[in-house]
Amino acid sequence: MKFSKLLTVYAAATAFMMATDAMAVGDVAKGKKLAKKCKACHTLKKGGKNRLGPNLFGVLGKPAGAVKGYKYSKALKASGITWDEATFTDFVAKPKKVVKGTKMSFRGIKKAPQRADLLAYFKTLKSTAAAASSSIGNVANGKKVAAKHCIVCHTFEKGGRVVYGPNLFDMYGKPAGAIKGYAYSDALAKSGLVWNDKNLIGFLADPEQFLKGTKARFPGIKTAKQKADILAYMKTLK
Ligand code: HEC
Ligand code: HEC
Repeated sequence: MKFSKLLTVYAAATAFMMATDAMAVGDVAKGKKLAKKCKACHTLKKGGKNRLGPNLFGVLGKPAGAVKGYKYSKALKASGITWDEATFTDFVAKPKKVVKGTKMSFRGIKKAPQRADLLAYFKTLKSTAAAASSSIGNVANGKKVAAKHCIVCHTFEKGGRVVYGPNLFDMYGKPAGAIKGYAYSDALAKSGLVWNDKNLIGFLADPEQFLKGTKARFPGIKTAKQKADILAYMKTLK
């Protein structure tokens, strides 16, 4: 990964921290130091060898047990886990609690801020093409994208009024259809969705295709980078 890209990621992480301390957003540089603990058993570079544990480059977003040529425990293989922010963070806190019978004998990282740092660093471990489509976006740019594509129908500030769509302050992580007093479509109200990375990216790409019957009608945000940026921005709104 290019250093400039790293800086962008780092700047975004810092901006998050300033915007909110309730949200655990980590420090890439600190996470990199912490990752030395992992290197006792894992390589982290692209194409690195499997050691006692599998190579971990690009592990976020992958299903557990996906590294070719590595002999996983049955427990991990059968876990059905996908390594997203939550599962990765839990696993790193206490591997044996999350996957009973895993052969990762590592006590775990007890402090939540350290786990957040580690997560921030692991997010940078992906090829540039994958990084572009990942959820690591640029907050400032996301704000611009929102101004251009969303504010015709949505407000983003706390207590903002309903324009045509509901107010989007603190929407990230919420169940769909949670704003009291807003008349959602049945499709959205009954969707059972939670606005996590995956669902937001799907919805923003093409609302009507993602959720048939939604009354959110806009062409969708086409580029992966813009979607990542807007997500980064929305995560700061707390
Ligand atoms: C003592 C050795 C050891 C250390 C230290 C260690 N791991 Fe592991 N790790 C393993 C082993 C062994 C596995 C395979 C587990 C299995 O198959 O049950 C594993 C598996 C994993 C997986 C699942 C990978 C996949 O392909 O599904 C993740 C994620 C992971 N480790 C993260 C970490 C992180 C992050 C650290 C540092 C904080 C770390 N590990 C430290 C030994 C270790
Ligand atoms: C043309 C108007 C319009 C535009 C433009 C628009 N939306 Fe919406 N949006 C809506 C409407 C209407 C709803 C309610 C949908 C429903 O009830 O089916 C909605 C719902 C949503 C929801 C779900 C809210 C909830 O409470 O569950 C999210 C998230 C969202 N929009 C994000 C965005 C973002 C981000 C953008 C800009 C990239 C955007 N929208 C652009 C009209 C719009």
